[in-house]
Amino acid sequence: MNKEPMITIRNLTMRLGGRDVLHNVNLEIGRGETLVVMGLSGVGKSTLLKCMTGLLKPANGTIIIEGKDITKLKPAELNELRKNIGMVFQSPALFDSLTVGENVAFGLREHTRLPEEEIQRIVAEKLAIVDLEGMESLFPSQLSGGMQKRASLARTITTNPEVILYDEPTTGLDPIMSNVINELIMYLQKEFSVTSVVVTHDLESAFKIGNQIAMLYEAVIVEKGSPEEIKKSENPVVKQFITGSALGPIKV
Ligand SMILES: Nc1ncnc2c1ncn2[C@@H]1O[C@H](COP(=O)(O)OP(=O)(O)OP(=O)(O)O)[C@@H](O)[C@H]1O
Ligand SMILES: [Mg+2]
Repeated sequence: MNKEPMITIRNLTMRLGGRDVLHNVNLEIGRGETLVVMGLSGVGKSTLLKCMTGLLKPANGTIIIEGKDITKLKPAELNELRKNIGMVFQSPALFDSLTVGENVAFGLREHTRLPEEEIQRIVAEKLAIVDLEGMESLFPSQLSGGMQKRASLARTITTNPEVILYDEPTTGLDPIMSNVINELIMYLQKEFSVTSVVVTHDLESAFKIGNQIAMLYEAVIVEKGSPEEIKKSENPVVKQFITGSALGPIKV
């Protein structure tokens, strides 16, 4: 078995608006592992994911994915690597004027020369995985929030990415739909050995799906460990975050 981590982040520093949003962040994510990143709103979670897809260039540090430092790649090389990195955005970002089927097929039509029949087959297969079988002809406005998230996930998995980055996949969903999404994340991990980074402040989801949990606070990773270790953490920031207490080092 290949013991090299799938993703290695070293000394990542990202400056935005004149301050370090991320400062010397170090993370390793093993192949087929799910890392959950939690932290307060505005702490830099989405920024971290955007750095990992090459959408943002950090001020300093390296992000090695499959042996390549994505912070140093040329646009063409980055595009190639990106086919293997799926991102599920914080808002589903479906095109309102396109049907679900057209939305899911979008990347395949843009980036491949697959025949239409094959595209239709892949779209149907991915919709079935997210439990939206046969919903190709509906428009996003006809779907609930949870269904939109699933359609967005179906679009992300059309290229069979080995890495999937999820930005708050369960935020705003009811507990049952959150669980459906969590089950899907775990299914993709189990069936296709997908390596995942999931940003969330939904603690129940974090403890359920995470093999590792990292807590981001004031630009740095203040704690990292298994769900059990995080639950037992003596770090006052982590304790306050997971108990939701108004009292502690985190100023509200
Ligand atoms: N383009 C930008 N220019 C300046 N500051 C920015 C920019 N993008 C993000 N920021 C700032 O960086 C910080 C981190 O933002 P980010 O969106 O990564 O937070 P987050 O942890 O994902 O928050 P949330 O949980 O609310 O989604 C915020 O303070 C935000 O205001
Ligand atoms: Mg965010």
